[in-house]
Amino acid sequence: MFETLPAPKLDAIIALMQAYAADPREGKIDLGVGVYRTEDGRTPVMAAVKAAEAQIVETQDSKSYLALAGDRAFLEQMEALLLGGAVPSERVAAVGTPGGTSAVRQICELVRTARPEAVIWVSAQTWPNHLPLIRAAGLNAQSYRYLDTQSGGLDRAGLFADLEHVSAGDVVLLHGCCHNPTGVDLAAQDWADMAALLERRGAVPFIDMAYQGFGEGLDADAGGLRHLAARLPEVLVAASCSKNFGLYRERVGIAMAIVAPDRRDTLAATLAGLNRQAFAFPPDHGGRVVSTILSDPSLRRSWQAELDAMRARVQDNRRALADALRAATGSDRFAGVGSAQGMFSILPLSPAEITALRDAHGVYVLGDGRANMAGLSSRNIMACAEAIRDVTR
Ligand code: LMR
Repeated sequence: MFETLPAPKLDAIIALMQAYAADPREGKIDLGVGVYRTEDGRTPVMAAVKAAEAQIVETQDSKSYLALAGDRAFLEQMEALLLGGAVPSERVAAVGTPGGTSAVRQICELVRTARPEAVIWVSAQTWPNHLPLIRAAGLNAQSYRYLDTQSGGLDRAGLFADLEHVSAGDVVLLHGCCHNPTGVDLAAQDWADMAALLERRGAVPFIDMAYQGFGEGLDADAGGLRHLAARLPEVLVAASCSKNFGLYRERVGIAMAIVAPDRRDTLAATLAGLNRQAFAFPPDHGGRVVSTILSDPSLRRSWQAELDAMRARVQDNRRALADALRAATGSDRFAGVGSAQGMFSILPLSPAEITALRDAHGVYVLGDGRANMAGLSSRNIMACAEAIRDVTR
C-alpha cells in the first residue's frame, strides 16, 4: 500500500523548530515559531491560567462528553471577547475546535460543504499553514498582494486592485490583527474600504484571529472584525487562544459563522456535524480555563494585566531591534520592523542571507525572513543586529 507514498514536505515552521532544537550552539537565537517568550526565554503558564486550572481540578466532577460544539460558557465568553456585542447573538453559530489551526480547517470544510467552487483569497504573504489547510479541504486558493516590499508597509493599491477580481460567493481570508508573517495590519479606513468592496462584490470575509491582544489591545485588535460583522450579512471567523492565553499545547480554538438569524441554527448544526466527522468533541480543558478566567472578574483582571505586559515587552523588543539595526547597519533598510504590530516582522533579507544568519550566527528566522520579536531579549538584541549587519554587508 505505501510503496509509492512520497515523503511529505515538512511545514516550514515545524522544520525550523526541529533545526533549532538540534543546534548545539550555546548562543543560538530562536526567532522562529510564534510563541511568546519572557526576557529569560521561557514560555510561562499565565498566573490566571494556573489559578483557573486549580479551580477546575478542585470542582470538576465529571469528564463525560459535552456537546459536539463544546462547552456553552466557552462559546459565549469567546463570542463576547471577539465580537464585543457588535452583532446580536441570534446571528452567531460557533463551535470549539482543537486550536486555531482546526478552526481554520473547519471553516474551510464549512465553505466546501456550502459552496465547493468558492475560491479562498489569501494574502501573498501568509501563515505557511493556510494554503495546506485550504487545499486539504479540497478548495482552491488565489493570492492577493499585501506587503509593499519597498516600504515594508501595506501595498494598499495592490491589495484593493487584486480583490476587485473576487467573485460573488468567494471567500477573502484576512488576518484580524498582527498579520502573520508581516506584522502589517489594516488601518480603520482600510477595514471600512474592505467592507465596502466585499459588499459590492458579494464576497465573504474569513477572519483569522490568532493574536488578539498582541497588537494594540483586546478591543482595538478586534475592531476590523467587529466592523465587518456589523456591516456584512455573512462573516466567518477562526480564532485561537494559544497566544493570548498561552494555552498552546492545550489546543483551544473556535470556529464561527455570523449569518442571518434564520440561518443560524442550520450553520450551528453543520459546524457541529463537521466536528463530529473530524474529531467529534473538541478538547474541553483549555476552553474551560478560558471561560473560567473570562467569567471571574479577578482572574480576568490578572489575565489582562499579564497579556498587556506581554504585548508591551514584544513592542519594546521590536523598537529596540529597529534601533539596534539602524545603529549597526547605518541604514533605514530595516525601519519597517519598528512600525509593525504583534509578534512578527519580515526582515528584508535574501534567502542566502537568511541561511548565513542561521549557519554562521545561530539566528533562526523563517525562510521568508519572518522573525518573532518575542524571541529577542536585552541579552541577544545586539548580537542579533550585528549578525544581520554581518550577513548583509
Ligand atoms: C506560528 O505561526 O509560528 C504559530 O502560529 C505556530 C504554528 O502553529 O504555526
